[in-house]
Amino acid sequence: MPTATSPPAPVNRDVPLVGRQALEGPYVLLTFRHPEVAGRARAGQFVMIKAGTVAEPLLRRPFSVMSVTPRDDTFTLFLKVVGPGSRALADLRSADTAGCLGPLGRPFTLPPEDHEALLVAGGYGIAPFVLFSEELRRAGRRSRVFYGGRTAADLQLRAPFDSGEAPLACSTEDGSLGHCGRVTEPLSTHLDRRGGPATIYACGPDAMLHAVAALAAERGVSAQVSLDPWMGCGVGTCLGCVVRIQRSEDPRAKYRCACTEGPVFDSRDVLWPGEVSSRARRESAAVRG
Ligand SMILES: Cc1cc2nc3c(=O)[nH]c(=O)nc-3n(C[C@H](O)[C@H](O)[C@H](O)COP(=O)(O)OP(=O)(O)OC[C@H]3O[C@@H](n4cnc5c(N)ncnc54)[C@H](O)[C@@H]3O)c2cc1C
Ligand code: FES
Repeated sequence: MPTATSPPAPVNRDVPLVGRQALEGPYVLLTFRHPEVAGRARAGQFVMIKAGTVAEPLLRRPFSVMSVTPRDDTFTLFLKVVGPGSRALADLRSADTAGCLGPLGRPFTLPPEDHEALLVAGGYGIAPFVLFSEELRRAGRRSRVFYGGRTAADLQLRAPFDSGEAPLACSTEDGSLGHCGRVTEPLSTHLDRRGGPATIYACGPDAMLHAVAALAAERGVSAQVSLDPWMGCGVGTCLGCVVRIQRSEDPRAKYRCACTEGPVFDSRDVLWPGEVSSRARRESAAVRG
């Protein structure tokens, strides 16, 4: 039974595809009509979606809401085709439908007013930062984007940051675009040089999130990370998405559903592979801002 404070329930719909833009390589932008996702989704939230006519895969897949256009009742996804679910979505044509449940999960929260927001993305992890940059701009917060991938071909979503309001620093491991190396390197340099307090937001592969969390702890900066576990239902019933989380009030780590309690978590609370407790890290990292 919803309470006065619980968020509105996600809405399940068969949604028509109303826009499709193929990018280079395995990347595509898909726009669907879904009034509730368009009207309510906040950055970091996601949908569970599956192309309407395919038998395989059986289950819907999670994708971050990249942007919304409430006046048209539409939202857009940024997809990397990696397997059958993403392939079937990418193959949809105009007016084809998909089964879509959303918006789901807990979004990123705005930084304190005087903080610069540092958005760190790996590969398709850039998707939620298009919407988040817009939310930050509307709230009058300064932001900066660090976007990393293996090669330039992996950095397909640069156009939304062309206005320069949120300066974009690209990194590639082969040096084909921007800084040659990992995305955490220009982030680390910026943390050394910044003139004021900052909050980090990260979305991408686990190894990158772990590295960002370690850097944030070392520099005493708070960070929110959007985790990327396997998800089967998106609503807390299959337990396929559990992650180990230890909040300040928890004496020991608990398994929590990333779909309902995340996917965005405070980086100090996440237990990464090989860690026994996040408590020592949390206590050693007094947040200086
Ligand atoms: C909250 C959330 C938001 C997401 N947002 C986006 C997004 O905006 N854009 C986007 O392109 N993808 C996003 N993903 C990842 C996306 O859900 C998976 O790529 C998708 O489930 C793949 O489905 P598939 O059937 O195409 O491939 P599958 O058959 O499920 O997988 C194909 C291959 O990809 C690997 N794989 C599958 N899922 C993942 C994963 N989560 N991480 C690493 N490897 C994986 C599998 O091991 C396999 O090798 C998100 C995931 C989560 C949890
Ligand atoms: S995806 Fe099923 S419980 Fe989270």
